[in-house]
Amino acid sequence: MKVPFLDLRTEYLGLRDEILPALDHVGETSAFVLGEEVEQFEQEFARYCDVQHCVALSSGTAALHLGLLALGVQPGDEVITSPNTFLATAEAITYCGARPIFVDIDPATANLDPGLIERAITPRTRAILPIHLYGRPADMDVILSIAEKHKLRVLEDAAQAHGARYRGRRVGGLADAAAFSCYPTKNLGAYGEGGALTTNDDQVAKYARAARSHGQTARYEHEFVGYNYRMHGYQGAVLRIKLRHLDRWTGRRQEIAREYRRLLANARLTIPVDHPQDECVYHQFVIYVSNRNSLKSHLATQEIETSIHYPKPLHLQPAYSSLAYPPCSFPLAERACERVLSLPVYPGMTAEQVSYVANSVLQAVGTK
Ligand SMILES: Cc1ncc(COP(=O)(O)O)c(C=O)c1O
Repeated sequence: MKVPFLDLRTEYLGLRDEILPALDHVGETSAFVLGEEVEQFEQEFARYCDVQHCVALSSGTAALHLGLLALGVQPGDEVITSPNTFLATAEAITYCGARPIFVDIDPATANLDPGLIERAITPRTRAILPIHLYGRPADMDVILSIAEKHKLRVLEDAAQAHGARYRGRRVGGLADAAAFSCYPTKNLGAYGEGGALTTNDDQVAKYARAARSHGQTARYEHEFVGYNYRMHGYQGAVLRIKLRHLDRWTGRRQEIAREYRRLLANARLTIPVDHPQDECVYHQFVIYVSNRNSLKSHLATQEIETSIHYPKPLHLQPAYSSLAYPPCSFPLAERACERVLSLPVYPGMTAEQVSYVANSVLQAVGTK
């Protein structure tokens, strides 16, 4: 049996009859950049996240960048985040001329450990940027209370967490603002690049709307030097359709995760824990094993595709060598990166594929 890591083609074929007329409508109305479909998407996604505003953008990276700028991050500032994430999280900090300050993770969740934040705060700290990694909400109550105490702003990196719930509330409206990615592989993926910034703060939304379009507040009225970070009409149309399916797809991801947990309960590996009051949307289902590379190769021989999120923490990436963090600066993130393996999880996976993957893993790693 073959198990791909992701199957976007099959998903597309199932949606084709809905997608093609919507794309045709964009062509007919020539609303190629922003326009009606994007505006509708903004309203629908804001409602979905239970927030006042959604500003549709050209990528999740753009959403992080504008989110930080809107929260007042400036050159010379510091922003606290986790090194166990995709490079874009830190890149957005760098784009603002600010410095990423990493703190280690809680190995139980792979998310930033809020217990380590306070000792990283300096007079230059402006914001905290927690990531809801793999679709699992970060511990926001603790993070928000530290932010309040030290007068810091908080931006959620919700790139992987569309629809996830923290203590019953959807991510996207938990902090000052939130950045979503709609890269095609994401839980709510466009057919190209896309992203969104959500917020309950009118000023943040107003800034992001102008900043995404060259600082314009009206046609050819440029209040400040902005960016070209607008969402394309085709992406708005696709995302509106996919949003209608998102909860069903998330339910299937969660079902697969439960099944993996059941079948792997006695396997010699560990799986991040879910807080009983939270809802993880399983953008990735990861396991930690001591012999990750050999397990990955073994699964490949069984025609099971896997991936690694992420093989190297950001402080050890050449891109951030200038920050001069030596190895062992964040031992738990480093250990996670050495041991982590992402198993296939996507809504179209069959029950047979799920048990085939779990059984192949179990066979390779053995029982506890
Ligand atoms: C955690 C995280 N942050 C930010 C991004 C950046 O999003 P995008 O690729 O849409 O720019 C991604 C996805 O690639 C991500 O996984």
